[in-house]
Order: sequence, then C-alpha cells, then structure tokens
Amino acid sequence: MNTMSRKKIVAGNWKMNKTLPEAQQLINEIINSCVEDTAVQKIVFPPFLFLPAVSLATGQRNDFFTGAQNCHTHDAGAYTGEVSAQAIASVGATYVLVGHSERRQYFKEDSHQLKSKIEAVFRNKLVPLYCVGEVLNERKENRHFDVVGNQLSEVIKELSAVQLQQLVIAYEPVWAIGTGETATPQQAEEMHAYIRKIIAQLHGEAVAEHIPLLYGGSCNPGNAAELFSCPNVDGGLIGGASLKAADFLSIIASIKLLVNN
Ligand code: 13P
Repeated sequence: MNTMSRKKIVAGNWKMNKTLPEAQQLINEIINSCVEDTAVQKIVFPPFLFLPAVSLATGQRNDFFTGAQNCHTHDAGAYTGEVSAQAIASVGATYVLVGHSERRQYFKEDSHQLKSKIEAVFRNKLVPLYCVGEVLNERKENRHFDVVGNQLSEVIKELSAVQLQQLVIAYEPVWAIGTGETATPQQAEEMHAYIRKIIAQLHGEAVAEHIPLLYGGSCNPGNAAELFSCPNVDGGLIGGASLKAADFLSIIASIKLLVNN
C-alpha cells in the first residue's frame, strides 16, 4: 500500500481541561478557521461532560469527529461514576481513547481490562484509538520495543478482520508526554515501523499497512511537520498544543501540506 493512501489523522486530547463555555469556544474557533478537507481527519477528545456539545459542533462537518477519553467495560449497570461506551455512542461521539498512559499509570489499567474496553467500544459501533508507549526507565534499559510489543499484542491479537479495518493506534512515549521533550523523528519512525511489523506478524502485511499510527508526546507547531513526514507516522495525538486553537490549526496545516503535495 502506498503510505499516502493510509488515513491521516490529527487528534487533540484535551485531558481534564476546560469548562463548557471554553470547550465550545475552542471547538468553534478550530472548526471555523479550518477549511473542510476530508483528506485529514480531525478528532477532538474533550472531557465526558462536554461530549454532547462538542459532538454537535463536529457533527456539522465531514472531516471532524469527537471522541471520549475513556469508557467502562460494561454497557450499563451499578458502576457509580463510570461512563459506558453505549452512553458515549448515544451523544454522537465516534471514537474512544483506550489505554492512554495516564489511565495505565494513575488508574492501573492493564491489558486484560483494556481488551475488554476495546470490545465494549466495538460492541457499541465506536472506533478505538489504542495508545501504547514505554516509560523512561524502560527506554533507558533498552526494553522499549518489548514493552510496546507486549502492550500491542496482548490487546489486539484476537481482534477480527472487520475490527482491525477500523482500529487506530497511537505511540506515545511516556517520557515525552507533557515534558516538552519530543521523540526525534528517527525514534518515532523506528518505533512505528516496529509496531507495523508486530501487527504484520499477528494479522498479516495488508492489515499492518492499513492501520493509521499516530505519534503523541510534546508534538507542537514547531516539530509536527518533521514528525509527520516519517513514512510510518500517519498523524498525531496532541495534548497541550490542542488546547490552543492556533497551535492545533498549525499542526493540522502541517499535515495537510504533506498530504496535498
Ligand atoms: P502532550 O502533547 O501534552 O505531550 O500530550 C500528549 C498526550 O498525552 C496526548 O494524548
């Protein structure tokens, strides 16, 4: 497959930021300043409470989508304080982040649980954006390939061909998240190529070539173009820089340039 024919995606993970008026202002500012272009999918992941309002705004466009940052493994029940994929689907969202490093680190989510979450996401006709990435010590000890390989294979090995058609994966080295330290394009490309190799071993070359792999970790307007120009990097999952319309728009513009040239 020609790498240019893979889906290109720029996603913004707003994490636990913004109030409702701020979230509405941010999404409107982004959408109004961005010419419709379905060659690049734009996804925003606001906090749960703002999903209906943000989905309403992105629903007016064919190139913008909304996603949740997490979901529960069950569709309904006595799980106080949790939110199901069924509820997420009912408010117009399309995607769900699964396995973000902050969920793994602070909420001790493991592969077993993440597998159930991905099942819940698919069961409710949503699309999982599955996150993998090593912590600093694992890289220092040269274990980063093993760690990411395990995070990947433990969760995606039993997915069906139809599910794999939809799956999106993000590589987010934990040492680069919110630290201002970015993986070099070489480090990102090397890991993305490795991820594609693991997927090929599990599910074959064609599936591996089809799945969009996003890079995340201190991606900003200054480094996005170089990261996105790597052959195995199909876009970005942006944290801090997605909270400012101008920065997010500039990151979108840098991938549009690559796609349209
Ligand atoms: P930063 O872009 O703030 O490093 O966050 C990356 C991230 O965690 C996106 O999910």
